[in-house]
Amino acid sequence: MNVLKTLLIVLAVGTTTALTAQSKQQIPEVEALLKKMTLEEKIGQLNLLTPGGGVATGAVVSENVEAKIKAGNVGGLFGVASPEKMKMAQDIAVKNTRLGIPLLFGSDIIHGYKTTFPIPLGLSSSWDMELIKSTAQIAAKEATADGINWNFSPMVDISRDPRWGRISEGAGEDPFLGSAIARAMVTGYQGDDLTDVNTMLACVKHFALYGAIEGGRDYNSVDMSRVKMFNQYLAPYKAAIDAGAASVMTSFNDVDGIPATGNKWLLTDLLREQWGFEGFVVSDYTSLNEMIAHGLGDLQAVSALALKAGLDMDMVGEGFLSTLKKSLSEGKVTEAEITNACRRVLEAKYKLGLFNNPYAYIDETRPAKDILTAENRAVARKAAQRSFVLLKNENNILPLKKSAKIALVGPLADSQNNMLGTWAPTGDVKNAISIIDGFKNVAPNATINYAKGSNILDDEAMAAKINVFGPRVDISKESPETLLEEALAAAQKSDVVVAVVGEATEMSGEAASRTDISIPQAQKKLINALVATGKPVVLVLMSGRPLTISEEFDLPVSILQVWHPGVEAGNAVADVVFGDYNPSGKLTATWPRNVGQIPVYHSMKNTGRPAPTSEEFQKFRSNYLDAKNSPLLPFGYGLSYTSFKYSDIKVDKNVVASGEAVNVSVKVQNTGNFDGEEVVQLYLRDVVRSITPPGKQLKGFEKVFLKKGETKTITITLKPEDLKFYNSNLEFIAEPGDFEVFVGGDSDASLKATFELK
Ligand code: BGC
Repeated sequence: MNVLKTLLIVLAVGTTTALTAQSKQQIPEVEALLKKMTLEEKIGQLNLLTPGGGVATGAVVSENVEAKIKAGNVGGLFGVASPEKMKMAQDIAVKNTRLGIPLLFGSDIIHGYKTTFPIPLGLSSSWDMELIKSTAQIAAKEATADGINWNFSPMVDISRDPRWGRISEGAGEDPFLGSAIARAMVTGYQGDDLTDVNTMLACVKHFALYGAIEGGRDYNSVDMSRVKMFNQYLAPYKAAIDAGAASVMTSFNDVDGIPATGNKWLLTDLLREQWGFEGFVVSDYTSLNEMIAHGLGDLQAVSALALKAGLDMDMVGEGFLSTLKKSLSEGKVTEAEITNACRRVLEAKYKLGLFNNPYAYIDETRPAKDILTAENRAVARKAAQRSFVLLKNENNILPLKKSAKIALVGPLADSQNNMLGTWAPTGDVKNAISIIDGFKNVAPNATINYAKGSNILDDEAMAAKINVFGPRVDISKESPETLLEEALAAAQKSDVVVAVVGEATEMSGEAASRTDISIPQAQKKLINALVATGKPVVLVLMSGRPLTISEEFDLPVSILQVWHPGVEAGNAVADVVFGDYNPSGKLTATWPRNVGQIPVYHSMKNTGRPAPTSEEFQKFRSNYLDAKNSPLLPFGYGLSYTSFKYSDIKVDKNVVASGEAVNVSVKVQNTGNFDGEEVVQLYLRDVVRSITPPGKQLKGFEKVFLKKGETKTITITLKPEDLKFYNSNLEFIAEPGDFEVFVGGDSDASLKATFELK
């Protein structure tokens, strides 16, 4: 009986594999080329190098790149400083190698190329998919004008840990929103036709689970149940792949004890067999070699492991280049495995049209007309305005009058260096509009009394760690006392204080984890002293992550969260501060009260001993002695200069048959004095099911514009798959029973309707 069962399973698995292999169309040109290639040439295509000269994004820079290209040992380059250099490299590959196979040119264009948009966490706060897609289209148009045809983006790692600096690079904590953004970015970069020279290959990263590293410490381990992975972390990667992402980058962390770069379950069973991914997989920067430090063996062993797992291209590590031939001769890998990896790399080149024209992306006439145009900057300004989140508006002090007398203070008020944010290696800080310049542009009749007020932080040793890409933290020659006096003098001369405070760009991003995510002490002193003057104070808060701001939140101040806003920073901040744009951003990651609450996110489970409410303590319940369960600011939160009222929630059926959609409608009224946009959010609670359900899950949203006084009925459709989850057997199913739907302006939404799934 058991033997029979095993046989049936083997047959079934065999059939799936065969079907997957069959469903893939082979490209005759690529097959013909493969037949001509030597083993060395095939291995060469699996090698991705960075020659230096651009901004280094890792610790190691490749050597003797030119000689390696000539020898046919390179499949692609990234981080090349200019189109001229790319042309030189392409010339070598096309004219000086036996088969003339063109190179891929990669880059990290994470939030815009030269037109830098807000950091991704900021962009996600716009909840505006069309806008996000248009930023990706512009990024593609600008980058391809400079020769790049492969982008290491989107980064879709779900993260619920603001200690992790790279939370700035993604879309926050939620898989539903994260999936929508992943689709928008992939379709924005790739368009409908990759041979169009305005599009480039997307690379979804970091596969997988990088956002869940322990303690928020970069490059750390991940250990997670499959049920949690499938229900909460994997959806955005899958959404990017379903949208056609041409490549995938592995993550630095391990998954189930095996580093992602060498994890066969992840790269083959899940990605290719279950999800049907047909593109190529690249490692992260030396993540192949890092498997040695992870404890998986020497370079030859880890390279063989990675190839067999499904890795196609080795970024910077040269492990494939230096060991695969030996592994083949020792029977540790097969030639078919090498050929398969090579095929996938060549197919990507084919899809880009590089075999027809290796220079298609190198066109001297394009940069001047496509890069950093007025139109592109206008989108950057719009994107920045929409990324800002109004956290608090004390006495409705905002928006300010354009004729106001303003003390504009703080270490980020006149700091072009800190406007672009992390991961903007292709941007140029000199193009960024500082906040003070933006104020002058937008409100030329305002009186601006400027003073720096404080350093970002006073600690020289910490500043040195942050200033790796230039002077982001610029410690003044003046003493902290003098800086403070100047700010207080500016405040005395003014009607209102605007303090631009927060994190320098490199205080978040890669290798920028923090255990204390509060506003640095030097700036806290400034804020408290400004408040003590009795003048109204507006904090324009910059950061690449949620911060712990409980103390500042309790002060009588207004707070506008602006992330790192990009190239149009100052103009966009001024647009919002002076009311030319009414803020509409909503947080996409929960803001904790303190670091001890982490992880805290909106879809947390109920537990068997829930606290009476998230505000109250009760002994022998799941709560803390020294903090409430509720975060300081929930997911989805954000204010407007106007107010919105929700009413009349309705579901179009109370009993829903399996496979049927449910329409949820609600009335939303603009009850304040400004026209404005609101992100209407729908959360679902599966009341009873076979595995413990999350408290609430985001399952729909719509951004709507309402004139003051206007009411609209918004209908959001719950599709059958929105009721599904992965059960203990990892089957994606919906279980009959009661569901509760909540609609409102943040994840605390309480307006409720119910239905039953039959
Ligand atoms: C990062 C990746 C990036 C790569 C290449 C790595 O350090 O983790 O996100 O794409 O460098 O720059």
